[in-house]
Amino acid sequence: MKTKIKVPHHVAIIMDGNGRWAKKRGLPRTAGHGKGVKRVKEIVKEAKNIGIKVLTVFAFSTENWLRPKKEINILFTFLSNFLNTYEKELMEEGICLRIIGRKSNFDKKILKKMAELEEATKNNKNFIFNVALDYGGRWDILNAVNTIVGNCNDKKSIPEAIDEDYFRNFLALGEISDPELLIRTSGEQRISNFLLWNLAYSELYFTPLAWPDFDKKQLHLAIEAYSHRQRRFGGAN
Ligand code: IPE
Ligand code: IPE
Ligand code: MG
Repeated sequence: MKTKIKVPHHVAIIMDGNGRWAKKRGLPRTAGHGKGVKRVKEIVKEAKNIGIKVLTVFAFSTENWLRPKKEINILFTFLSNFLNTYEKELMEEGICLRIIGRKSNFDKKILKKMAELEEATKNNKNFIFNVALDYGGRWDILNAVNTIVGNCNDKKSIPEAIDEDYFRNFLALGEISDPELLIRTSGEQRISNFLLWNLAYSELYFTPLAWPDFDKKQLHLAIEAYSHRQRRFGGAN
């Protein structure tokens, strides 16, 4: 008998392996980024079809600035094309798009587009799609701490009020519940400074496939694997 598939509410993905995907084919690393960006819309659509409600993808980390300038520039050109051609579909599908991350290092044009898309889609209720750009889990926690310290100094809060529920509201994901499932492509088995706070009890799914090869079927396989996990949150079963 086939067991019923348990669909997670929130899935996070570390989209890794673009460079190696390209290298294996004798192509420049940036060709892998081009192919990788193309996969994203397909996976968002399928996630929504499956019944997932929130998808958070890691697109650029606070450490990825260490890469050659040329690679970064090309990657951001792809990202900007991605954003510039997405609004119609986001509206048709009822998807709310949010950019999470530092935002202070981007050029004005891309920031403007991000703000436009966030504003245009903010009332869409079918699905939330978070794109983590210039995001780092350590940055996120420190950013929350700084805001809270400011609030305490301004007497808008008191240290005694700071518990886990209060704290999480100041993180980039805010009120969004923690991902039940984290997927990482490319065979690496690490978090690489993604959602450090929010992934505390997420189920981890690693696949050797590079992100450009992660298609709809692979998403179904990940959800199926999640279905068989037994979550305990520290309790006894
Ligand atoms: C993921 O692919 C995309 C980003 C980190 C921006 P990589 O570029 O890290 O590809 P690999 O891991 O080097 O193969
Ligand atoms: C993680 O991948 C960041 C993104 C996918 C955006 P990296 O390729 O930067 O991670 P490491 O360096 O292998 O840990
Ligand atoms: Mg990588």
